Amino acid sequence: MFDMGSLPLANRLLTLGSTADSAYPLVLYYCHNCALIQLADLVPRNEMFTDYVYLTSASKTMMEHFDRYAETTAQRLDLTTKDIVLDVGSNDGTLLTAFQRRGIRVLGIEPARNVASIAEAGGVPTLTEYFDLKLAKRLEKVRLLTANNIMSHVGNLRDFLATAHEVLRPDGLFVFEVPWVADVLRNNSFDMIYHEHLSYFGLKPLARALGEAGLFLVDLEYYPSIHGGTLRGFASRSSKEQSSVVREMSAREEKEADFWAMKDFSERVPKLAHHLRDMLLGLKKEGKRVAGYGAPAKATILLNYCGIGRDILDYASDTTPLKQGKLIPGVGVPIVSPQTAQKNPPDYYLLLAWNFRGEILAKEEGFLRKGGRFVIPFPEPTIVDS
Ligand code: TYD
Repeated sequence: MFDMGSLPLANRLLTLGSTADSAYPLVLYYCHNCALIQLADLVPRNEMFTDYVYLTSASKTMMEHFDRYAETTAQRLDLTTKDIVLDVGSNDGTLLTAFQRRGIRVLGIEPARNVASIAEAGGVPTLTEYFDLKLAKRLEKVRLLTANNIMSHVGNLRDFLATAHEVLRPDGLFVFEVPWVADVLRNNSFDMIYHEHLSYFGLKPLARALGEAGLFLVDLEYYPSIHGGTLRGFASRSSKEQSSVVREMSAREEKEADFWAMKDFSERVPKLAHHLRDMLLGLKKEGKRVAGYGAPAKATILLNYCGIGRDILDYASDTTPLKQGKLIPGVGVPIVSPQTAQKNPPDYYLLLAWNFRGEILAKEEGFLRKGGRFVIPFPEPTIVDS
């Protein structure tokens, strides 16, 4: 459906002086059988997930989101100190810590060693492994299994969901979050497409994949401002009672994530990319200084696909120490700390972490008040001032 050319791996930041800057094909396919939008060119997972730079705790928005997540799911299942929550792709342990604060035992599964050790240091027991049937045999069965922003990253979805079924008690719930493809298409946010994200879920293919594994989608919650639009799904092994929200959201999705929506998107995106680059070049011609705000994985795709390099951006500022001092692959834009950025602020920030727009605009009130501006890339490039 949509060929984005060859682009670098989004999270593989370069170290200074590094020459290993490789690119891989990034092509989206639409399955006429199950309606799943997906990549077919797979990069070996160990190249992407062994040493990781994304930390959940990097934003207040996600810390608060996962704290509420722990509160409401613990209540829904009436979890007690006897229960254990298993979280797949537990990252730095942000969600599990929130369960621990409520007296619930936890176990994380996180294949990225560097990130798993941050979780361990924070007191979250973590297995540095991939979630598969072999591992499931060694795990105790749980009433709550969680996996947030993980299912899109999974190459063998059938095996993953069979494993989820295996570890879940019949009275338990499998709770997961995925970005909703309808939002990606509606918001034009093509930078959500990168090699780590193999599947772009709509409800139809999601419910079907769960069903094949003996899991039934019983409920849904929708978070429009998390990662640009997130679905939280609740799947059960035993109950088949579906909430009306699932039917309502499915009806809403019907025309928003079909073949034609995908086709329109693939025609709009190249125009939008040109428009954004032209807008930034226009600012440069006026003598304005421009920098990136945040260095999320998405930024690698946005900058490389649009051709926005060091000629336009002086740097990208990011709060994650693991990213600072490195370069965004392909374009070589240096990542600096917010403190360094503050000493040398630009006239315009291109908001690369656009999913935290609310949090960031509030935090940067001072920059805006002094006449600084933000360029917001989606759904259409727009300039925001105070
Ligand atoms: P995020 O959009 O969560 O992820 P992804 O990598 O999946 O695209 O990443 C946001 C990045 O922005 C993360 O590296 C932290 C950074 N950030 C800041 O630098 N300042 C901020 O105020 C916030 C909220 C995030």
